[in-house]
Amino acid sequence: MALLTVKDLHLHYRTSRGPVRAVDGVSFSLDEGETLAIVGESGCGKSSLAYSIIKILPRNVHRYDGSILFNNVGNLVTLDEESMRTRVRWRGIAIVFQGAMNALNPVLRVGSQISETLMLHLNLSKEEAVERAKRALEDVGLPPYVIDRYPHELSGGMKQRVVIGMALVMRPKLVILDEPTSALDVMTQANIINLLKRLKKELSLSYLFITHDLALASELADRVAIMYAGRIVEIGSADDIFNNPLHPYTQRLLRSVPLLRVDREPIFIPGAPPDLASPPSGCRFHPRCPFANEKCSTEEPLLRVFGDNNRLVACHYAGEVG
Ligand SMILES: Nc1ncnc2c1ncn2[C@@H]1O[C@H](COP(=O)(O)OP(=O)(O)OP(=O)(O)O)[C@@H](O)[C@H]1O
Ligand SMILES: [Mg+2]
Repeated sequence: MALLTVKDLHLHYRTSRGPVRAVDGVSFSLDEGETLAIVGESGCGKSSLAYSIIKILPRNVHRYDGSILFNNVGNLVTLDEESMRTRVRWRGIAIVFQGAMNALNPVLRVGSQISETLMLHLNLSKEEAVERAKRALEDVGLPPYVIDRYPHELSGGMKQRVVIGMALVMRPKLVILDEPTSALDVMTQANIINLLKRLKKELSLSYLFITHDLALASELADRVAIMYAGRIVEIGSADDIFNNPLHPYTQRLLRSVPLLRVDREPIFIPGAPPDLASPPSGCRFHPRCPFANEKCSTEEPLLRVFGDNNRLVACHYAGEVG
């Protein structure tokens, strides 16, 4: 059953260069217990998509519309802030922000940090909040003494566990993870990924897992959405996306990862991702696509169904090229 259904979501920012179309007509759905990875290059709008779902928006919003149906709550886009706070944020949908582990308050002990956040946002009593803080650390496999430590006394992996624990204190159904392991070494990354897998099973969570790392996406995801310049260009099962990518961008993204065991030259995508204040006409990938022709530069390709496995691709020549 769908837990989250996003339709034609837009988030544009007002800037001196004109509106920046960070999220520009994004649609997807996420089932209960499922992990959907959102993959794409830096600046394609992944974090903006996360913020627009949990509705933590900056002041310079130029356009915010579409629909986000979550677990019988109704459309989050039009939901009032009070209901968002009391019914959705942290209780229904939690987020581990990009770089959150480096944003822990350096002068507060880990325990007070978690409990004060709980007291502030959830009106819990001090005792209740401390109890919850202990449970949060236990959830993520941290020893009890961590509660009395300052952030600088913890390793990167431990800090990342703390912020994941904080996201889970209200037992949300959906957790948005925005690059949760990007700042960590590969061993610690693997540890955190295993932790996320265990938590998902134990607490029956659904994840929206945001990453630019395809290898990590393949570890955790049931389905994968490839994002380019504010849009989803291909979405499907992890199997289909990794074994038979149909969009030229997905194909290139996969081929740009060097493989140790396979004797194959990685290929690089020429050019740079477009400026979202003035994205290219037609298919936004056409200036970098080796197969692009006249039609690609003028006609915008819409997501089309391929096969019978719920896969969608936005390319005029999907299945014919690559
Ligand atoms: N508050 C803002 N005002 C104006 N432009 C913004 C704002 N926040 C983000 N942007 C722009 O929106 C686009 C998408 O940014 P976003 O942070 O969502 O990308 P991302 O995919 O998360 O990138 P990364 O992988 O580097 O985290 C970028 O061009 C960025 O510069
Ligand atoms: Mg980001």
